[in-house]
Amino acid sequence: MEIQTEKGKDFEIRDSSLAEAGRKTMDWAESRMPVLKLIKQRFEKEKPLEGVKIGACLHVTKETSQLCDTWLAGGAEVFLCASNPLSTQDEIPAALVEKGVHVYAWKFMDTEGYYRSIGNVIASRPHITIDDGADLVSILHKLKRGETDSEIEVVKQIIGDTRDIIDGVWGGAEETTTGIIRLEAMAKDNALLYPIMATNSSPCKNLYDNVYGTGQSTIDGILRATADLIASKVFVVAGYGHCGKGVAMRAKGMGARRVIITEIEPHAALQAVMEGMEVMSMIEASKVADIIVTTTGNRDVLRKEHFTVMKDGCLLANSGHFNVEINIPDLENLSVEKIQIRPFVEQFVLSDDRKINLLGEGRLINLAAAEGHPSEIMGISFSLQALATEYIAKNKDKFTKIGGKVLEIPKAIDDNVAHLKCKALGIELDVLTKEQEKYLSSWKVGT
Ligand SMILES: NC(=O)c1ccc[n+]([C@@H]2O[C@H](COP(=O)([O-])OP(=O)(O)OC[C@H]3O[C@@H](n4cnc5c(N)ncnc54)[C@H](O)[C@@H]3O)[C@@H](O)[C@H]2O)c1
Repeated sequence: MEIQTEKGKDFEIRDSSLAEAGRKTMDWAESRMPVLKLIKQRFEKEKPLEGVKIGACLHVTKETSQLCDTWLAGGAEVFLCASNPLSTQDEIPAALVEKGVHVYAWKFMDTEGYYRSIGNVIASRPHITIDDGADLVSILHKLKRGETDSEIEVVKQIIGDTRDIIDGVWGGAEETTTGIIRLEAMAKDNALLYPIMATNSSPCKNLYDNVYGTGQSTIDGILRATADLIASKVFVVAGYGHCGKGVAMRAKGMGARRVIITEIEPHAALQAVMEGMEVMSMIEASKVADIIVTTTGNRDVLRKEHFTVMKDGCLLANSGHFNVEINIPDLENLSVEKIQIRPFVEQFVLSDDRKINLLGEGRLINLAAAEGHPSEIMGISFSLQALATEYIAKNKDKFTKIGGKVLEIPKAIDDNVAHLKCKALGIELDVLTKEQEKYLSSWKVGT
């Protein structure tokens, strides 16, 4: 599908006339993100990001609009591109451009458009990078190393032959598990050139966003794509990590007849059985599944041998970061016909006339067919991102000396966000008495 975009001096979006719808949606999101709103109000007064250029590669959703708005309130200049070709909500870029954000994002962008947009963000020479999946960081590093491939060639058409843009970056933050895996691999090889805060690894992120956000929004994506019933179905979830737990829990809650987990790791498998799920190999699960969702961060979790034994009509969806969990070339090779049944549902007809339905092109189904995590969840995650950005700006002199490390978000920042969220929900916590404090500290080693 070829998409017409609107280009300006410092933006490329689908349609600026969607701005009014975008503003309304932004207000809706803001009202559900009270902790981020508090941070925004403080940033407005204190301007901790004055003169800071932020380059962000994120899902361009109504929730991300609130993070951008918070950065703007803090005095930053914001450059934003999409971290997934299907996840942009087109009214949001329109409203953000009006607010002064430099946005390069539209839904259904092709590969060339995707990397052109990253190139435009890199061209801004950001001081801080914020990634969801580490694509922005990865391109900055490839440029520095002088590597060439088709992606880099697209970026070079925007920035020319410059290799040193990375030298001006103070630090960054990463939103998702797959991004952290990529960054840790780079750090291990001494290839990472600047420090990155692992937002995903903070309790405030992975305990809520990955579990309850992915849980609800993955089911939402499947329902919006298919309008099918979950009750009575055999629902298979590949991977019982943070995301898989959330998806399995919600599938059970929707009345799935059986929820089956596939795993490669014994503790995750044991947790699944103790939480009332069945665990089996993917080859066995594929024979009985009505719906299969992958949430592993791994590749080829569903491949030829699995497609060969699946039931007629099986639905396949992925909620892991990249579209590699379902091996689509294998599925194509086995098929005699591919039919676009409805938006986000492609039907692969196999030679024995079995039909396998692939949802959302195997990309993150919750962002492709639905709207990603609910604002209430992203308000927690993006509060961390806003505070991480402030932390990097405040400590820029230290950051530029640290080198390539993946850093934890300080516990005090994470605790602060959790306390504020409890307060916003009207949850009262008990407070330790003096005697309790003394009792607990008496167990500390050396006392
Ligand atoms: N859809 C979203 O909005 C969203 C949100 C957060 C994270 N993510 C992405 O989801 C993926 C999973 O994230 P997570 O936080 O749950 O990670 P995690 O590390 O907590 O869990 C992954 C699980 O998958 C298992 N696994 C790995 N390979 C497997 C295989 N071949 N078969 C079965 N199980 C396998 C691992 O043992 C682990 O238990 C990542 O790519 C992450 O970036 C997506």
